[in-house]
Amino acid sequence: MNTAKPVLLAAALLGLAGLMAGCAPGEPPSPGESTTAVSPGGASASPSASAGGSPSQGTGPATRSPEPAETSASASPTGAETEEPQAQGGHDDPARIDVVVNKQRPLEPLDYFPADLATPALTPGPGGDDAQLRAAAAKAAERMFAAAAADGAPMTVLSGFRSYETQVATYQHWVDVNGKAGADRVSARPGFSEHQTGLSMDIGDASGSCRLEACFADTPAGAWAAQNAHRFGFVVRYQPGQESVTGYSAEPWHLRYIGTKDAGAMFSSGAKTLETYYGLPAAPDYR
Ligand code: DAL
Ligand code: ZN
Repeated sequence: MNTAKPVLLAAALLGLAGLMAGCAPGEPPSPGESTTAVSPGGASASPSASAGGSPSQGTGPATRSPEPAETSASASPTGAETEEPQAQGGHDDPARIDVVVNKQRPLEPLDYFPADLATPALTPGPGGDDAQLRAAAAKAAERMFAAAAADGAPMTVLSGFRSYETQVATYQHWVDVNGKAGADRVSARPGFSEHQTGLSMDIGDASGSCRLEACFADTPAGAWAAQNAHRFGFVVRYQPGQESVTGYSAEPWHLRYIGTKDAGAMFSSGAKTLETYYGLPAAPDYR
């Protein structure tokens, strides 16, 4: 890509760390954060950064709020919500909300750019300012954040959409830090990241603790998301013990929007990966 170099240069000049903080594993940390290693769990071993600007609303138990689940639009044969006519085939059109992107399934085209990016009103954590998502995911995220806060588990957004060019820099950062094999466990190569679909985001706990670390799962926001995100159409994409299927170590902060029908059905089924739920082959590594 011709654009990668200028983007890298510009990012360096602007202080790229802040720009890309968030999507961890996968994302370079914010300024001041250590970049020395990746923990066995795959998360950055850096100390937790504070979630600047995030008003803490308490750390009560992760309980289910009474809000009704997000209502969905029309459903596809696979149960996925749709905002536009669905192409045949499924799971491989990056414009579909049931697209599956993994190490065996690159975005097509590789530099795909979503048409309907929006900037949801979410409390940003470090690196999460102006995080973008596709329109449906953005609306769902706003509702989810409100419900989580009402339940005493306020969230922050750390990263949303990332372009191909951003992922070039993100992946390279982790190669520099951990080598290629280490990077491949925590960060997608350009053209292979769900973040490029505009349907994924990384969340943090408003306390700032365990940011992009495995222990995020035990924070109020992490625990709430694991039990409730599906009601808003999101699933925890990279769950523990699924590396042989997803190709990535656990990322309890990385949520993927697939619509309430599929997210609810996947949660109820006990399936831990999109590959398993949709009946697609495991993708432990690149071709
Ligand atoms: N951290 C995930 C795998 C990504 O880079 O998309
Ligand atoms: Zn992510």
